[in-house]
Amino acid sequence: MRIGFVQTAPVFGEKQLNFDAVRELLPGCKADLLVLPELFATGYTFTSVDEVKALAESADGETSAFARQLSVSTGAAIIAGFIERQNDCYYNASLMADASGMIATYRKIHLFNREKLWFSPGNRPPEVVTVNNVNIGMMICFDWIFPETCRSLALKGAQIIAHPANLVLPWAQQAMITRCIENRLFAVTANRIGREQRGEDDFTFTGQSRITGCKGEILASAADDEPCVQVVEINPSLATDKTVNSFNDLLADRRNQFYTI
Ligand code: ACM
Repeated sequence: MRIGFVQTAPVFGEKQLNFDAVRELLPGCKADLLVLPELFATGYTFTSVDEVKALAESADGETSAFARQLSVSTGAAIIAGFIERQNDCYYNASLMADASGMIATYRKIHLFNREKLWFSPGNRPPEVVTVNNVNIGMMICFDWIFPETCRSLALKGAQIIAHPANLVLPWAQQAMITRCIENRLFAVTANRIGREQRGEDDFTFTGQSRITGCKGEILASAADDEPCVQVVEINPSLATDKTVNSFNDLLADRRNQFYTI
């Protein structure tokens, strides 16, 4: 299976420009799964709910249509961040789509910083979706700092975590190595680059998108200052066996009765 990330430098509020920037990176790219950054079409640093509303879409809106087109040209299932509008709620969300249409959405459950002013927190548990016999779970950016997110996806059978991101703290790329080791799964962290100074925020996004193997190997890694695409071949069935040795199993050995949750 060929899995990859697209690392971009979104321009705030310029959806068409940001769609074009992704298209321009992908000629000739063939893959089975491609992950784009969180909010890749809108930018990240909002200053009001009105700005969020102006860039929000329904789950079958223009970002979903764009993802379907991208799936046609690349052969890949596409995972990409967008602002999902549902009734009067606005979610920092990701969608999964392929050439035949929408497959699933995920609404970020752990909002970061001032996101709490603009977005509703995700109102559904992270779920695993099976695409071509491979189990894929989505989480978004700051979800990484709550190990429960990856763990719950692992318990639901995820073999690959698709992780659209707009990372600003310096730790996630390293932490994802641990998430992959402790859950024996693959992760594709698709981060953005660039700087956004808007309102009271001044964010520099850390790039260094990564594909991490299910034993913590770094299978692909991007720079912190350049848009790029990277794709690697993996064997997702390696994520099915959770044994560490003949005595230990990452999931079966948990001692739930001793954990306070
Ligand atoms: C983040 O969750 N975008 C830092």
